[in-house]
Amino acid sequence: MGYKEFIVQNRFKDKVCIVTGGGSGIGRETALRLANEGARIVVSDINIEMGKESSQLINAIGGQAIAVKTDICSTDSITYMVEKTVSEFKRIDILINSAGIVVRGGLFSSKEDEWNKEIDVDLTGTARAIKYVAQQMRKTGGGKIVNIASAAGNIGSGAAIYSAAKGGVIALTKVLAGEFAPYKINVNAICPGFTATPLNETVREMGLEEVVEKKIPWGRWATAKDISSVIAFLASEEADYMTGAVVSVDGGFTSFIDLGPEYRQFDTMKGL
Ligand SMILES: NC(=O)c1ccc[n+]([C@@H]2O[C@H](COP(=O)([O-])OP(=O)(O)OC[C@H]3O[C@@H](n4cnc5c(N)ncnc54)[C@H](O)[C@@H]3O)[C@@H](O)[C@H]2O)c1
Repeated sequence: MGYKEFIVQNRFKDKVCIVTGGGSGIGRETALRLANEGARIVVSDINIEMGKESSQLINAIGGQAIAVKTDICSTDSITYMVEKTVSEFKRIDILINSAGIVVRGGLFSSKEDEWNKEIDVDLTGTARAIKYVAQQMRKTGGGKIVNIASAAGNIGSGAAIYSAAKGGVIALTKVLAGEFAPYKINVNAICPGFTATPLNETVREMGLEEVVEKKIPWGRWATAKDISSVIAFLASEEADYMTGAVVSVDGGFTSFIDLGPEYRQFDTMKGL
């Protein structure tokens, strides 16, 4: 068996993985990818119909998955998710925190209930899931946690509360890297750029796809696959020595500012 085949088929053999937000977008793609590489999957989502669809897709390709209705804003719901996973699969090795929403707009236009909801889902919800899953991981000798933050958590975006929540996820990732190291639990974050999923369907429906594309050095939006492959790496034993890392997967969006043609012309002048 070649190296490539081994990696593709066996990287997550015998591992048990919970994917929050596994019913859609990046979460679904990650659930499928990890299942394809041998993991047993708990698709956790507030939208149970979508969650079931993901688990059926996995079972249809010969994988093993169940769907569990979970609201990451509720501690009872999270503890049920943990109990159900352990009763079904005995342990938890990997947690992918992909459940999320986006509240758009600046602070002036925001309402307090929008602020509370965004923070409760994207930041507190992520922390809540980690708290109860990590307690279980400790009992079995460790695990891997991958938080889906955002490019919007690294740089300011028009969505003020979303940026604040994702910035919080980045800080949480760094602090937990220290707190959880004694338990052999790696905590890393990934910051996707613009990714074509239902989350930002309205951006594309409003014809803004190309406006965005022009700002991305790579010249296109990410696919959920572009993101899930890096999540899979962080969830694998290949990333055993990585913790507290914040990995951008954004086609260069947050790493390069194009100052326009005049500046480019100046920059290429010799002998200054
Ligand atoms: N799509 C992008 O451009 C992009 C960019 C950067 C970061 N992200 C982040 O990636 C993650 C996944 O986003 P996506 O693009 O796949 O979006 P998506 O809307 O396709 O999927 C999000 C999933 O989260 C679930 N969810 C929402 N609230 C929940 C709750 N309270 N409890 C449990 N599940 C809940 C939804 O039902 C949905 O299935 C999010 O955290 C998002 O902020 C997305």
